[in-house]
Amino acid sequence: MTLRVPADCVAACDYERYFHQRVDPACAAYLSGAAADGLTDRANRDAFTRLHLLPRAMRDLSGASAALTLLGIEMPYPILIAPMAYHRLAHPEGEQATATAADLTRTVMTVSTLASQTLESIAAVSRFPQWFQLYLQPSADVTLSLVRRAEEAGYRAIVLTIDAPVSGIRNAEQRAGFRLPASISAVNLNSPQYTHPQHPVGSPVFHSLRDHSPTWEDVARLCAATPLPVVLKGILNPADVTPALSAGAKGLIVSNHGGRVLDGLPASLDMLPLITQAVAGRVPVLLDGGIRRGTDILKALALGADAVMVGRPVLHALAVGGLAGVAHLLTLLQTELEAAMALTGRARLQDIDAGVVIRG
Ligand code: FNR
Ligand code: LAC
Repeated sequence: MTLRVPADCVAACDYERYFHQRVDPACAAYLSGAAADGLTDRANRDAFTRLHLLPRAMRDLSGASAALTLLGIEMPYPILIAPMAYHRLAHPEGEQATATAADLTRTVMTVSTLASQTLESIAAVSRFPQWFQLYLQPSADVTLSLVRRAEEAGYRAIVLTIDAPVSGIRNAEQRAGFRLPASISAVNLNSPQYTHPQHPVGSPVFHSLRDHSPTWEDVARLCAATPLPVVLKGILNPADVTPALSAGAKGLIVSNHGGRVLDGLPASLDMLPLITQAVAGRVPVLLDGGIRRGTDILKALALGADAVMVGRPVLHALAVGGLAGVAHLLTLLQTELEAAMALTGRARLQDIDAGVVIRG
């Protein structure tokens, strides 16, 4: 199945508009929605809007490059694809289409534990390195077997998500009556209760934590159990930095899960400076939440991120244009970042400092 990218899709916001025109509202409530009142999701965007960029004129930009090496992987741009469940909800070719687009644009894709295709089949379509996102499972053996499969399939890092031990209050999905179609599931797991955790009314959250309530000790065990670097996703409180690094994390992702778990959390961009200060260069720090433009990427790097992850825009582009849409979206972000770097007089990522931004 091929989809033609509409000619007036020239930015992530255009893919978002077409996405909402074309995708069934219940499915869109899952793929694009947020928790409760959407306060945190909006805060993520607003934080970027409040920051302005300062230009620098006439600087020598010859030999400019946005390349970096992150956890041993050489990447042409500091842009990765955030882990997201069930790409087949957006497009029948699912994660394999996204992975092909990532390969074409030399972008690291993070494959979710809740992927709708097998992690091996997704790894097989790409020669560019990929990361595997892990949700700790109730059984340590099941968790470990996922890690072993990821190692064998050639994934280059484990991204352990620590901000969602229970799922969020998803009122938009509930109102729209979202249900996972029978043909789409988390095929890498065989425990059906984990395919899409929704809290039915009357099923207390604490009940689900009685048998499975992971702690930093589980994180330390995981770090010790795999030769792959473990990157922790969902750090928002600077107080979590020390336990994370003590447990053995080799990287941190500042994230509030795109506002999909606890509504009322601050914008990830607003917490970034405090986290990078606490990390003090010991491990790379990534940021996600609200990245829609190359200028947003520059702002995140100016506040101390080494790289960013992009979430919903990838699913919007996948739904609208399949693999061509995702490849196009990633290329747009790359081009926008280059333009923003050039116009602020920064020829390399290491030249991007806090002087690039000014609060409006
Ligand atoms: C997600 N996210 C997510 N995170 C994770 O660690 N594991 C997962 O399986 C998922 N699944 C998922 C599904 C969908 C449909 C969305 C939109 C998001 C969160 C994701 O990795 C990321 O943190 C946010 O999406 C980043 O915010 P933006 O870029 O979407 O604003
Ligand atoms: C979500 C879960 C799967 O955000 O992480 O939908």
